[in-house]
Amino acid sequence: MNIIVKNDYEELSIAAAEYVADYIRNNPGKLLCFAAGDTPLGLLRELVKMNNSGEVDLVSMWYVGLDEWIGLGYEDKGSCKQIMFDNFYNAAEIPDNRIMVFDGKDIDLDGQCVRVDNFIKQQGGVGLTVLGIGVNGHLGFNEPGVQSDAKSLIVNLDQITCTIGAKYFSGIICPSKGITLGLGHLLNADKIVLIASGEHKSEIVRKSLKDKINTNIPASALQNYLNLTVLIDKEAASKL
Ligand code: GLP
Repeated sequence: MNIIVKNDYEELSIAAAEYVADYIRNNPGKLLCFAAGDTPLGLLRELVKMNNSGEVDLVSMWYVGLDEWIGLGYEDKGSCKQIMFDNFYNAAEIPDNRIMVFDGKDIDLDGQCVRVDNFIKQQGGVGLTVLGIGVNGHLGFNEPGVQSDAKSLIVNLDQITCTIGAKYFSGIICPSKGITLGLGHLLNADKIVLIASGEHKSEIVRKSLKDKINTNIPASALQNYLNLTVLIDKEAASKL
């Protein structure tokens, strides 16, 4: 595990974008997976800038969405789809046929899991995954107690996830279920970058990286993963 601590969110975002850009240059045509949420927004903005100035070719890659709130779609502010399309896929003009995301509005959610699992298989697995972390240690929507080898799955969301998740939504009640790539997909990626920013993430960053691996802290499973880069700012690193 390689832990890199940056002074602040801006420096963290730039360093993460440079890491992803290097991966893209060395692995053209591979499958990338980005967490939605607030933390990756700076990194995504930097990558779009690099794409527009010709420093990296985002259109040469394939993309799979990490997770989605069940019942929400692009038209719902705060959905993972809305965040990723507005801040990244549309901003970089990545064609739709290079992107696979969960449709949180489909009534056939098991079918969504199969569709996404098949796409990942066709692509030869995930190349690089960029993950954020929830204050309860979730990765995507792999909530405390999750199975460590699951592929795509539907989950009941933890109360903490719903309480914190309210920050993404205006006027919508937080959904009680989510759909997500399971740890079985995430831990099979060639490389993982975990990003975290702010004092409010410091305790869970410490528990995830330093406590004994346990399913109540899903992110602790990353300790077994060899190609892990942890990119965090000073505040998130303050309890390490
Ligand atoms: C959300 C998402 C995750 C995200 C995490 C942290 O609920 N399901 O994919 O990485 O929680 O979000 P944020 O970066 O907004 O703190």
